[in-house]
Amino acid sequence: MGKLYQKIFAKYYDPFMVELELRLYKRRYSLLSPLIGNVLEVGSGTGVNFPFYNENKTKVTAIEPSLPMLEKAKLKKNYNHIKLHNIGVGYEELEALIPEKGFDVIVCTLVLCTVPNLEDALEDFKRFLAPNGKLIIMEHIHSKKKSKAMLQNVVNPIWKKIGDGCNLNRKTDEVLKQKGFKAVNSSYFYNASIDFYEGVFTL
Ligand SMILES: C[S@@+](CC[C@H](N)C(=O)[O-])C[C@H]1O[C@@H](n2cnc3c(N)ncnc32)[C@H](O)[C@@H]1O
Repeated sequence: MGKLYQKIFAKYYDPFMVELELRLYKRRYSLLSPLIGNVLEVGSGTGVNFPFYNENKTKVTAIEPSLPMLEKAKLKKNYNHIKLHNIGVGYEELEALIPEKGFDVIVCTLVLCTVPNLEDALEDFKRFLAPNGKLIIMEHIHSKKKSKAMLQNVVNPIWKKIGDGCNLNRKTDEVLKQKGFKAVNSSYFYNASIDFYEGVFTL
């Protein structure tokens, strides 16, 4: 995506998401406030998750490839327990930043729809997670309803262009299973007519 587009996307992202975020707030709190240890947040965007991490119990490495999104996050508040890096999964330089088996938890919210290659990203997470580490996700997924799923397929090419690479039709729930992630707890939910999947996973 071009730099100007990224700037515009970052500028309007939070206002566009306000209504949905009011509904997701409690879910973010439940998933993130109990976390302990070294946390890797992937695609931290404008920092919507940052207020939920316990500042005494977590050390958070947040990676975000869009500089305008990252700068928005920085403008909100400076958290001592969160370090931000302008990089994304799939980037070669990430290997130098991320110690193998270095994270107790990896957090992905509304980001697995956008990473360029979901399967590769999950393979990377396997290397980054410490033994018994957890993957936390909250993601929108391809609808289980046939008609809606078809519509999502049709709309996806345009949506992907305006939504900074976001895909409406990723079967993230199924791919997680295929890649060997086991749900400790997980659930499907609907919000604003969107199908979501959230949960805690181990290997
Ligand atoms: C829809 S936003 C979600 C932001 C935040 N996680 C949230 O819950 O609000 C998706 C984010 O994923 C980021 N992203 C795109 N490609 C990525 C990659 N390869 N690695 C990490 N993040 C990526 C985008 O820049 C964007 O900030």
